[in-house]
Amino acid sequence: ETVEWEAASYDMGGHDTFMHKEISEQPDAVDRVLRGRIDDRFSTVHLGGLNLDPREARTIRRIKILGCGTSYHAGLIGAGLIESMARIPADAEPASEFRYRNPVVDPDTLYVAVSQSGETYDVLAAVQELKRKGARVLGVVNVVGSAIAREADGGVYVHAGPEVCVVSTKCFTNTVTAFALLALHLGRIRDLSVTDGKRIIEGLRRLPAQIEEILKGEDEIKRLAEVYAGAQSMMFIGRVRGYPVALEASLKLKEISYIHAEAYPASELKHGPLALIEPALPTVAIVPDDDLLEKNRAALEEIKARSGRILAVAHQPQEKADHTILVPKNEDELDPILMGIPLQLFAYHTALAMGRDIDKPRNLAKSVTVE
Ligand code: G6P
Repeated sequence: ETVEWEAASYDMGGHDTFMHKEISEQPDAVDRVLRGRIDDRFSTVHLGGLNLDPREARTIRRIKILGCGTSYHAGLIGAGLIESMARIPADAEPASEFRYRNPVVDPDTLYVAVSQSGETYDVLAAVQELKRKGARVLGVVNVVGSAIAREADGGVYVHAGPEVCVVSTKCFTNTVTAFALLALHLGRIRDLSVTDGKRIIEGLRRLPAQIEEILKGEDEIKRLAEVYAGAQSMMFIGRVRGYPVALEASLKLKEISYIHAEAYPASELKHGPLALIEPALPTVAIVPDDDLLEKNRAALEEIKARSGRILAVAHQPQEKADHTILVPKNEDELDPILMGIPLQLFAYHTALAMGRDIDKPRNLAKSVTVE
């Protein structure tokens, strides 16, 4: 299988860029991260490399996730998945920040290092520091046998396959899905019911076809990207589960189009960013159909009242938005996996309309193996 990937990885397979190829590969990639891991009998998942027995899993009091860039954003969504399914307090932090604040390393905390390459220096150094202090560290890594995978006590491979484009797309989606598996596994050892376990498993199984459906909307997303490509700056907003989706979408846009973009929790708008809202600063809003829908709609109203243009990513058309990209609904917990995907295409087509070098954005590297 490795050999097959080696050959396929440097071939664009009919696409104009690796980014486009990798975005398109996501239905298969997600299928791969799920394959062989679902256990219907106990409504859970098996993660062969975790090295964490149920008794140990029950003693975890906190989970701290560390990563850089897109992997950090995947970790933020992962933390939300773990909190909601396993009810273990969890959060994510950029690995370099963690390293330099002399963190309190606590024996009841499980540390999780996230990295596509498995070679990012700040993440590796954080893992080594943690191990030196006796902590238990898991890896959520794409590249098999990489430095971080080797240093960790165990972990979950994300099986996205080789990613060539400097900016991460399919690996992000697979990493978040891997976190959903970890969350389900931990949840079923703790208090997640069989019924909820089944509900999540069914949701996971729907993902590949739903991603396929999103990708079919590419022409419409391209048209929208061309509408917004003239912007100097863009705002991305989301709430709770939607906020890390906004962070990642804004990173994707700035990395490849060089349009300034920033992400805010929707609830923080009134504490500053509303001052920026005017027709020249469009907002991309993540609006899932969940218990926060009304709150999110209120934010759209606030923006509209200041003549801001709005592109919503939602499960149903949003009246206050100028445009809505519709995404198929999954379980509330898993919606963030799908809501980021149209925004990968949005960033892609914006950058394409601006004539950018999409696979190799200026000043950036695929893996940062130095400090
Ligand atoms: C670089 C890349 C990003 C990536 C980050 C972390 O900044 O340009 O796309 O998210 O490194 O890389 P890793 O391999 O650790 O996920």
